[in-house]
Amino acid sequence: MNEIKRIVEGSKLTEENRIENSLRPQILDDFIGQDKLKNNLKIFIEAAKKRHEALDHCLFYAPHGLGKTTLSHIIAKEMGCNLRITSGPVLERVGDLAAILTNLSDGDVFFIDEIHRMNHFVEESLYPVMEDFELDIIIGQGPSARTIKLPVPRFTLIGATTRAGLLSSPLRDRFGIIEHLDFYAIKELEHIVNRSAAIMNIGVDEDAGKEIARRSRGTPRIVNRLLKRVRDFAEVRGGKITHAIAKGALNALEVDSAGLDKIDRLILTVLIEKFGGGPVGIDTIATAVAEESDTITDVYEPYLIQSGFVARTPRGRVVTSDGYKHIGIDPPKNSQRELL
Ligand SMILES: Nc1ncnc2c1ncn2[C@@H]1O[C@H](COP(=O)(O)OP(=O)(O)O)[C@@H](O)[C@H]1O
Ligand SMILES: [Mg+2]
Repeated sequence: MNEIKRIVEGSKLTEENRIENSLRPQILDDFIGQDKLKNNLKIFIEAAKKRHEALDHCLFYAPHGLGKTTLSHIIAKEMGCNLRITSGPVLERVGDLAAILTNLSDGDVFFIDEIHRMNHFVEESLYPVMEDFELDIIIGQGPSARTIKLPVPRFTLIGATTRAGLLSSPLRDRFGIIEHLDFYAIKELEHIVNRSAAIMNIGVDEDAGKEIARRSRGTPRIVNRLLKRVRDFAEVRGGKITHAIAKGALNALEVDSAGLDKIDRLILTVLIEKFGGGPVGIDTIATAVAEESDTITDVYEPYLIQSGFVARTPRGRVVTSDGYKHIGIDPPKNSQRELL
């Protein structure tokens, strides 16, 4: 995949590790929003602790930047255990998995990010591990090969994915807790702006916080990124983030009133001008804007749909009348589109 460097990119840019760690909530009570998920987790964690057992394996699926990694840190902390982090593409061989598993202790949390990108052999070797805490290791080759069962500690596997649909059902079925994280409401994002601003020790006016929240595409990681950039503008102008400074900074960053950037607007414009508003398939959209299909599906489409500018139909993606209005073009008066 091309390296994407967008200010409104939900996935993490490499230089963001340090600041992310300082802004990352450490306990469930500091994790803003996702109330249903939080309440469930609280109960599951408390029950597991009471039984002195590891928490059930958890699968979190959500677009980039909504809090999957944060939750795995929080769970380890709340369970009072260690966290071991890796990602699907890094686990190339069963041996890589064995090396990690044999170093875990009872109750530890093992986090696999992008679990949908795990190699097939590694995935299959994970099944008995998740179910019986035994890793099958094949020793020798050909007719003399035999399998030994290596016991592993009773740990909690947490899988994170942006694409639950790409997970095989045998893998999915082995998770006891499966939770989806939703895009955040403006109020919640505002709350995150204020929390992060306090940690960064910068003042934010209420309407400035609202403005940043509104343009953050429902995504905490983007809240923090925009806040950091807006802070630069504020510091140059003498301190506090006022509404005028926030608005001016966000406009300068080309993040529009709905949080769309140039590429999002290009997608909408191309759909309207080249394809009469759709329906259009993902591959065609990808070619038209010179992006990869996966990038469109993973990065751009979820928020365009969430914001109500694009709708998914069985025949492809269509621009809704709100999408037309956002771009400043009158929607066509055909009956099908009226329904959207
Ligand atoms: N619910 C939340 N409340 C406060 N901050 C959050 C929340 N979820 C995510 N964040 C912030 O957003 C950043 C990105 O979250 P992360 O867990 O890394 O996302 P993901 O793993 O889903 O891509 C974190 O560093 C954290 O500061
Ligand atoms: Mg993550």
